[in-house]
Amino acid sequence: MASASVPTVNQAQDSSTVTELPWWKTDVVYQVYIRSFADGNGDGTGDIAGLRARLPYLRDLGVDAIWLNPWYESPLHDGGYDVADYRKIEPRYGTLEEAEALIVDAHTHGIKIITDLVPNHTSSKHAWFKEALASPIGSAARNRYHIRPGKGPDGSEPPTNWTSVFGGSAWDRLDDGEWFLHIFDHTQPDLNWENPEVVEEFKSIFRFWLDRGVDGFRVDVAHGLAKDMSYPDVEETGVLLANAKTTNHPFWDRDGVHPIIRGWRSVLDEYDDTMMVAEAWVAPDRLPLYVRPDEYHQSFNFDFLSAQWDADEMKHVLSRSIDAAKAVNAAPTWVLSNHDVVRHTTRYGLPKGTDWRSWLLDGPHDILDVDLGLARARAGVMMMLALPGGVYLYQGEELGLPEVWDLPLEVLDDPVWEQSGRTSKGRDGCRVPMPWSTSGPSFGFSDTAGWLPQPLEFGQLSAEAQQGVSSSTLELYRAALSIRKQLFVSDGDIEWLEAPAGVIGLRRGSGAECWVNVSGAPMPVDSERELLLCSGELDDGMLPVNTAVWLA
Ligand code: BGC
Repeated sequence: MASASVPTVNQAQDSSTVTELPWWKTDVVYQVYIRSFADGNGDGTGDIAGLRARLPYLRDLGVDAIWLNPWYESPLHDGGYDVADYRKIEPRYGTLEEAEALIVDAHTHGIKIITDLVPNHTSSKHAWFKEALASPIGSAARNRYHIRPGKGPDGSEPPTNWTSVFGGSAWDRLDDGEWFLHIFDHTQPDLNWENPEVVEEFKSIFRFWLDRGVDGFRVDVAHGLAKDMSYPDVEETGVLLANAKTTNHPFWDRDGVHPIIRGWRSVLDEYDDTMMVAEAWVAPDRLPLYVRPDEYHQSFNFDFLSAQWDADEMKHVLSRSIDAAKAVNAAPTWVLSNHDVVRHTTRYGLPKGTDWRSWLLDGPHDILDVDLGLARARAGVMMMLALPGGVYLYQGEELGLPEVWDLPLEVLDDPVWEQSGRTSKGRDGCRVPMPWSTSGPSFGFSDTAGWLPQPLEFGQLSAEAQQGVSSSTLELYRAALSIRKQLFVSDGDIEWLEAPAGVIGLRRGSGAECWVNVSGAPMPVDSERELLLCSGELDDGMLPVNTAVWLA
């Protein structure tokens, strides 16, 4: 482990601030990228059996729920976000019976299950798309997708200039000359959400999984379903999952998404205590629209994730997000890493202003300061866990895993690599299999090598290496999650505390405080207060830079 820091832990005694809010308003959700979490059958790919065996680890970590990336039948051209059958489990991950057993097991451990639903597009291997291809131009089967004639005298130009998020045109031509829309990979045709059959089918899919006991859904590309059916050209072309800046954009964040959401919400409301969270990359002033009382329960808030390690910027995005959620009586959500972005341990180790997506491929890689990144990541998560609202953790961040930026090009699997014309390395570097033990062919992930190679340092970062080591990132997370439950989950407003430049200070309803020295001078810690947890070591009673502390 690259950190010399020693967390100080005193268990909080007072549980009086634990409130009876709906679970999603306060819970810590752990994202499981199933393909890379744990392999139970020894084929090098993570699966349901592997996850079931590791449930006690997640219980002991102290998470309240798991969000599972798509586990449905899929050719895995886009890591399962290309769904061939929404009611079947991908055979490489297991069976429907195993999925049902996982839900039961998780509940036994007190862990809820959130599945990932992908309504914007299907796989090109989905029965509907196969039927569309086999059906004549203008048929009802084609009308489930956006399939259009091209432009130009012989229709050889795409219907619009829309570009795919992954690069290149968003249209591909069929053998009979028509074009189909794919905002993502060309194996992910976009569904036509103006078609009532599509609307009904997804309500039925929601019910299918609710009937099997899932507690919630993470809805993929929640801001992309409604398209401008007059198919105008667009000025602003796509950047990978960036917030759309154009108003009245023909496929991002159109008002037409909201009736669709309300339809789903009415289905969820038939079941007790269920929720759905939107993956909506939209402008901050538009986000509250997605969490109105009859829409999503939550929306991811990517502003915090996108913020630089800068006290003013962070405080600004934190307070803006909290206020925006409060305005519609929702709870904010927080996330620092997921399967689509460079891991924050690495982002925080890069100089301010580095475009981390292009840095992955183009470097220079010697500007990365690994120890700095880890120190900031540890402080950053303590800040995140002290905030009001729900928190999403991404598998492996509790081990301080870095981005594996040097994966050999020949192992890259993300469609972004090819579709961008090999100008963008893609997202494999944050999807490298989890290290569970210090040795073995894939550090305990599988009995064999994992589907992506792990760097050697993963052995020292493994769960086994960190377990019981008080200075480890794993033990920091465990302690933080336990204390958070006691002192940082009340519905109480947040009070921003007067702080020196470069420092963020906040107090929660319980009276507990969090101080993060982002870039200020070392500052004295109030010795009158009980020190609960520190992301590093205090230096003679002073909080050093890149360190966070919780005080009772
Ligand atoms: C998911 C990505 C996926 C894309 C297309 C997203 O936002 O998080 O991993 O590639 O949707 O489904």
